[in-house]
Order: sequence, then structure tokens, then C-alpha cells
Amino acid sequence: MVPQERAWRRLLITFVVLCVWAALPAWGVQITRGPYLQLQTPDSVSVVWFTDSACTGEVEWGLTTSYGNLAQSTQPGTYHEIAVTGLSPDTLYHYRARCDSAPLSGDATFRTAPPSGASAVSFSFVGDSCSAPSNCTATYNAMLSQSLNGFCVTLGDLAGRGEDNITDYWQSHFFTPAAGFIKHVCMHTTIGNHELYDETATYVYPTRYLANWSPPTASSGSEFYYSFDKAHVHFAAVDTFWSSYASGSAQYDWLAGDLAGTTQPWKIVFGHNGPYVSEDGSSNGSTTMRTSLVPLFEQHGVDLYLHCHYHNYQRNVVNGVCYIDQGT
Ligand SMILES: [Fe+2]
Ligand SMILES: [Fe+2]
Repeated sequence: MVPQERAWRRLLITFVVLCVWAALPAWGVQITRGPYLQLQTPDSVSVVWFTDSACTGEVEWGLTTSYGNLAQSTQPGTYHEIAVTGLSPDTLYHYRARCDSAPLSGDATFRTAPPSGASAVSFSFVGDSCSAPSNCTATYNAMLSQSLNGFCVTLGDLAGRGEDNITDYWQSHFFTPAAGFIKHVCMHTTIGNHELYDETATYVYPTRYLANWSPPTASSGSEFYYSFDKAHVHFAAVDTFWSSYASGSAQYDWLAGDLAGTTQPWKIVFGHNGPYVSEDGSSNGSTTMRTSLVPLFEQHGVDLYLHCHYHNYQRNVVNGVCYIDQGT
């Protein structure tokens, strides 16, 4: 082989090695959960993922798969929550997660929220979704095929026993089977009773729920109940299993002030338990809700309350407020 041929060959091999290296994840680092989306606004969204060892997280993002922009963490870790900012409203972006400059995930997309005051908004809602992982995958794949995916509000019971110390229900019953949905659609979460269950089905503080999700706390100072606006709709998430919502409780007082303060023409509240349901020989809904939250809904013109927990679809309109139990 003449020297010139040898040089070309070396160059070609170097090029191929570099291409393969660029396509591989950071050496030894693997994603264990995610990526998924939080805190969607008209001009920002947060991308979240976990890795099995510490690295410095980065999000490549842009209008196409060429990306062109980078959002970076300031320090290494195994939990990565990176805000992507400076975005345009109601726009579809491509992104992928990286660690230490090496891609860790394939391409995915997110959509920013509509601009404040816009007259249309689309969203989905889901709860009681994951009693079996196969059902969960089917549920979320079906949701992804629909067009109502501006964002998603979750109504609780996403994981069979969220605080189980033996089996990681969050991984097996939610993050793995729902992975295809949550990397594209931002979720705004609230807790159900199953988020509180440990391995003996005893209610305990939902440490794992709080480790996984980042609700927008600016409105309330609490990760359990909070509110946000999308377009011309005011959404309030309520916690109906861990925090008290009885009249005079901190949550009750917050919701009263929150609903009184919004000027949005549409008001939607979502939570896990519901005040009006019919089940033969079983529960007929939360009587505490009927004496505490329901009067607030009626007083402040709430249009819709979304919940689940009873595992069958029901729809009631009571004193001008529509109540939907989304089924399972
Ligand atoms: Fe429940
Ligand atoms: Fe449930």
C-alpha cells in the first residue's frame, strides 16, 4: 500500500470511529428513568431523567432534529431536571437528553403551552391507569395516538404501591410502560391513595412521588396542591388523600383564594377523590368534599371537576358544576 493510500485509510477509519463514538451514550452512563416533561409554559419546559451514575446533564433542542441549542446543568448528578427556556408559544420542538456531551436518549418532541389568553387549548387527563403494566402501555399508547396532547393532567393512582420498599411500582407500573407517552407530553400531577401505599398498604409520606414530579409550587408553596393557567383556562390541582381539604385547612384556604383571584373565563379543578358517585353497596363519594370543596366550586364558578378513584366512568352536573369520574 502506498503511503498516500495508507493516509486516506487512516483518515477513513478515524472518521468512522468518531461517528460511532458520537452515537454512543456517555461511557458507562445509562438512563434509568425518562426523559419526561414537567412545568410546561408558553416559553419553557423542563426535561427530567435519572441516570445510574453521576454526570452533567444537557438537553439539545431545536425546531428540527438538527437541534442547534443546548440547555445545561451546572453540576453533575443522577437526577437531571433541566429547564429549556426562550421558547415560542404553542410550538413543537425536538429534543434529546445528553450527559457529558454524549447523547443518552433518542429524539423526542415537546409542545409549548398556548399563549396566555388564547381561545383554544387541548389536553388529556388520566388516572387509575396502571393496575397492570400491559394495560398501562395500551392506555398511554392510545392516548398518544389522539390529538389532545397539548399537555396531560393526571388524577392519581399512577403506581400500584408508590411507596413500596420491595417492588419499584413507579418503574414497573408507570415509567417503563408509559415511557413512549411521557417523553412527548408534559404531565401535571396530583396524588391518589396508591401514591401513599407502602408494601403493607399503609399510608406513608409520598417521598417517591415528590422525587419524581416537580409541580409548579409558586401559586401555593405546596407540591401537593397548586394552580396554573393554560390559554384562557385556570387549572387547580387538589390533594384529596394526604393534605386536609376540610373547611379551614391550609389547602381549603389556598383554594378559596386561588379561585377568587383568577380572571380566566374557564376554571377546571382536578384531584383523585370525587364528591358525587354511585356505586352499588359501596362508596358514594367523599362527604367531606361535599361540605368543603363543592361550595367553593359553586361559589367561584368552577366549570369542571375531574377525578377518578372509583374505576368507572360517571358524569354529573350539580348546581352548574360538571363532575367527571374518568373511569379506568
Ligand atoms: Fe384511588
Ligand atoms: Fe384507583
